[in-house]
Amino acid sequence: MTAPERARFVLDPAVRDVHGESARLREAGALVPVEVEGVRAWAAARHAALEAVLAHPDLSRDVRHWSAEGRRALRADGSLAPIVLARTMLNAEGEEHRRLRGPLSRVFSARRIAAMRPRVEAVTAEFVDRLAGLPPGPVDLRREFAYPLPCEVISDVMGIPRERRAELTGNDHVLTTTRGTPERLAGARAGRDAVIRETVEERRRSPADDLISDLVALEGAELTEGEVFDTVQELYVAGHVTTVNLITNAVRLLLADPGQLDLVRGGERPWSAAVEEALRLESPLRHFPMRYAVRDVEICGVTVRKGEAVLACFAAAGRDPGRYGQRAERFDVASDPPPHLSFGHGAHFCLGAPLGRLVGEVALSALFGAFPGLALAKPPDELDPVRSVLALSTTSLPVLLG
Ligand code: HEM
Repeated sequence: MTAPERARFVLDPAVRDVHGESARLREAGALVPVEVEGVRAWAAARHAALEAVLAHPDLSRDVRHWSAEGRRALRADGSLAPIVLARTMLNAEGEEHRRLRGPLSRVFSARRIAAMRPRVEAVTAEFVDRLAGLPPGPVDLRREFAYPLPCEVISDVMGIPRERRAELTGNDHVLTTTRGTPERLAGARAGRDAVIRETVEERRRSPADDLISDLVALEGAELTEGEVFDTVQELYVAGHVTTVNLITNAVRLLLADPGQLDLVRGGERPWSAAVEEALRLESPLRHFPMRYAVRDVEICGVTVRKGEAVLACFAAAGRDPGRYGQRAERFDVASDPPPHLSFGHGAHFCLGAPLGRLVGEVALSALFGAFPGLALAKPPDELDPVRSVLALSTTSLPVLLG
C-alpha cells in the first residue's frame, strides 16, 4: 500500500463551512485518510497528532520520499503543486535545510524584526490615512488595507523597487486568488517572475541595504543562482499571503464581538492577545501540504507506511477541544490559551513569525485607534470564504469606517 487505501473525506476548496469540515476530521480519528485535489493523504487534524507530525524526524518535506503513485496524482494546475514542488527551504531537510534557512534566520530574528516597528508603523499610518480619505460608504477592508499593507512591508524588507511594486502586487493578486483563465494565470506568473528576476539582476550589479542584496552576496559560496531566485519568490509570497488572512480574520472576529474588542481597545488586554487568539481560532493556513514517510511511522496509534503523504490541518488543530476545552470554538481574548500551532512546529517553524505578529499587532492598533466607529457592513456568515484548501479567510471584508 503506497497511499491511504480509501479516502474517507474529500477536502473541498469551495466548502462554506470550513469549521464543520474540521470538526468532522477531528472526530474521525488522529489521522484520517483524505483526498485533496485528487491526491491521497493522511490528514492530521487533532492538535496532538499535528504536533507529532510536524516534529517527526521520519516525516520529511522532501518530495522524493513520496511514492511514485502519489506524485503522479499531483495536478500540475492545482494549488498544491507549486508548494510541493518548490525547491526552497520549506521542502529541504537536514543539512540542506540548514544551509538555505541559516542566512535568513539572522535577518528574521525577533530582535531585527522588533527594530523594524517604527517603519511598520509609518507604512501602516499611510494606509490608515488613505482609508480616511475614501468617500463615505462601505469599504472592502481586505482590498484596501489587509492586502496592500503586508505586501508593502515585505517589499521594503526585501528591497523590491518602489516603481515595480504595483506590477508585482497586481500579478500576485491574480495568482493568490487563483481567479482567471489558465492563460491569465500563466501571464501573471511570468509577470511576477520577471519583476523578481530583474530585481535580483539589478542587485547583482549594484547591491543595496536589503534582503535581496544579502542573498545575492551568498551566491556561489552558499547558494546557487536558482536557489536565490526561488528563495526571493518564496519569501515574497510567504511574507504576505498569510498576514493578509491574519489581519482580515482578526478584524472580522473583533468587530463581530464588541465585548472582546472593548477588552483590547480599553487597554485591559494587549493587541498581541487578539492576534494570537485570531491565529488559533482562524488559522490563516487551512491545510498545508505535505510530509512523506521515510519509513513506516506510528502517529497516535496510526501507522503511516513508507512513501505515504501527511497533510497538516492547522485550522482544525486550532479548535481542538482536546487541547482548548470550553474555549475551543470561542473567540476569547480575556486569557491566554495554551500555545497554538498556526506558525508550525519543529525545524520548519515559520521563519517570519515575528514579522507576521508585528504587522498584525500594528495593523489592529492603528486601525481601531483611527476609526472608533468601525463596523461590519455585512453579517460575518454572509461573507464568502476564500476558495482554497490552503487558506482560511474571506474574499472580502466590507466595513463602514464610522
Ligand atoms: C513556514 C504560517 C508569516 C515565511 C510557515 C509554516 C507555517 C507558517 C504554519 C510551517 C509550514 C510547515 O511546517 O509545513 C505563517 C503564518 C503567518 C506567516 C500564519 C502570518 C500570520 C510569514 C512571513 C514570512 C514567512 C511574514 C516572511 C518572511 C515563512 C517561511 C517558512 C514558513 C520561509 C518556511 C520555513 C522552513 O521551511 O524552514 N509559516 N507564516 N511566514 N514561513 Fe510563515
